[in-house]
Amino acid sequence: MIVAIDGPAGSGKTTVAEQLAKRLSFSFLDTGATYRVLTYAVLEKGVNPEDEEGLTNLAKSLDLKIDNNKVYLKDADISKEIRKPRIDKNISKIVGFKRVREIMNGLQRKEAAGKNYVVEGRDITTVVFPDAEFKFYLDANQKIRIERRVQQLLKEGEVVNQQEVADDLVKRDKADKNREVGSLRLTEGTRYIDTTHLLIPEVIEKLFAIIKEK
Ligand code: DC
Repeated sequence: MIVAIDGPAGSGKTTVAEQLAKRLSFSFLDTGATYRVLTYAVLEKGVNPEDEEGLTNLAKSLDLKIDNNKVYLKDADISKEIRKPRIDKNISKIVGFKRVREIMNGLQRKEAAGKNYVVEGRDITTVVFPDAEFKFYLDANQKIRIERRVQQLLKEGEVVNQQEVADDLVKRDKADKNREVGSLRLTEGTRYIDTTHLLIPEVIEKLFAIIKEK
């Protein structure tokens, strides 16, 4: 069974998906992390982020392993590196290419299809697993999402420039909602949950109750 969760940056979906998966005894797939690994590889290899052909070839040969909240590139654990602001800054351009997304969709489906998974991202309810048994869209107002992102970076020991974090998040929101393929959209059959005034355990409880009810 697949539980699909979409939502913008800072909506809490990664934490919620991870903990909900634990509660359900499901595996968890953070698809944003797959795009983050690709972006990391692009920066490491010096591939031009505008070069669709180069990006497609890199995506095809990406030696990526993902195990719940850990990600590995060629067996090196890069779980921390992919959360750095330099990845946030460069990711939007890279994830906008149709062919790149098709390859990443394939990787994501291969990982989770036919198994018990909570999968989260931007296009999981619309493109990757539109027939998922449960589909949720988590949201929160932009101010609180920026604040959450700042707190997350501080917790990870980053030196944080609040204005830069805000600018990146606003830019990513715009890119996520307006890209031609795989954009972030709320579609019919997906439950909208506003987490602005909810704590993480409350969101998990809400989702868990909906799933258990069926
Ligand atoms: O969820 P996140 O912030 O780690 O995602 C990082 C970026 O990856 C985000 O700005 C948009 C992109 N992304 C995407 O295009 N499609 C997905 N399914 C997941 C993430």
